[in-house]
Amino acid sequence: MKLRKVLAIAMASMMVFGLTACGGNDAAPAEAPAEEAAPAEEEAAPVEEETPADDAADATEAATEDAEAAADAAGAGGNIGVCIYKFDDAFMTTYRNALQEILEGKGYTVTFMDGKNDQAEQNNQINNFIAQKVDALIINPVMTSAADQIIATVKDAGVPTVLINREPTADQMSAYDKLVYVGCDARQSGTMQGELILDTPNKGDINGDGKVSYIMIQGDPENVDAQYRTEFSVKALTDAGIEVEELDLQRGDWDRNKGQEIAQNDLAKFGDDIEVIFCNNDDMAIGALQAIQAAGRKVNEDIYLVGVDALDAALNEVAAGNMTGTVLNDAQGQAEGAVQAMEDLLGGKTYAAGEQSIYVDYVKVTPDNVSDFQ
Ligand code: GAL
Repeated sequence: MKLRKVLAIAMASMMVFGLTACGGNDAAPAEAPAEEAAPAEEEAAPVEEETPADDAADATEAATEDAEAAADAAGAGGNIGVCIYKFDDAFMTTYRNALQEILEGKGYTVTFMDGKNDQAEQNNQINNFIAQKVDALIINPVMTSAADQIIATVKDAGVPTVLINREPTADQMSAYDKLVYVGCDARQSGTMQGELILDTPNKGDINGDGKVSYIMIQGDPENVDAQYRTEFSVKALTDAGIEVEELDLQRGDWDRNKGQEIAQNDLAKFGDDIEVIFCNNDDMAIGALQAIQAAGRKVNEDIYLVGVDALDAALNEVAAGNMTGTVLNDAQGQAEGAVQAMEDLLGGKTYAAGEQSIYVDYVKVTPDNVSDFQ
């Protein structure tokens, strides 16, 4: 845990370069000092103006100082409203705790609201925050399909807003230039899950029948993380020329109990035919592991199991050989990035269309490197 924190802090200090603006323009500055806050059109710097790699260290230092200056100018100590889609989500609890520590550590007054997985409830919470005249909002939408409405509301009120964890489309975000998304590119985590299987001695084909037979336990399919992880985990196998067979795909809504139930039923139905269990997140993988153990199966011997998030419980199971691997969903790095983006907005930065997604990298976690994250 300690080392993980140290890593996270080290990553945070490299944030300027760890965060990548999407839209194929890595040249877009991650920071803009308050006094130099460029109008939206000027933010979309052409690729040829990209900062050379050898200036990176200087640029990082300058950008960090600029962000700090911007935060001071904007009056750190302001009121921040944070909306979480639901408190009862293992990963978002880690993320929420990280946000709280960072924001309070910087002297902000922060209020967290539990959306209880209900978009109408969250809409009320956003309206209340606006009525209370918060200085900025950080919102983890309940439904990405509600993004248009959320964005219209915060735009109307002129509140700088950082969206987290559930990514709307670039088109939706382009409606408001004081809005930015900080998160991860879920395609990367799916690909890494597939690579974890490709890295096993038999590339996932435990019974040697020439194909990898798997079940997919999906998160909430309304969410791009669930869609992309489902697609790209399998794509990594097929891109490597591996034949695959999907025995089952079911939504487990990111929930441990549902992961356990789905795995239990599928293990009873398909038995030894299941060679791989892909779970869109760790909480469902921990549930699936309970079912695997109850069925007398042994991970890494007669079945493979992968998740995403690198929850503490999953790291312990990877270390113990009870999960094949997981993928770090960097809550600390994303929280740091969200606060930094919020301070940039408070400092006057605006975001051009197509430049409003800022990504933190995922990291593959295997028994070989798991101790770095514990
Ligand atoms: C994902 C995470 C899941 C769940 C979900 C909520 O990024 O891996 O565990 O928290 O976000 O949207």
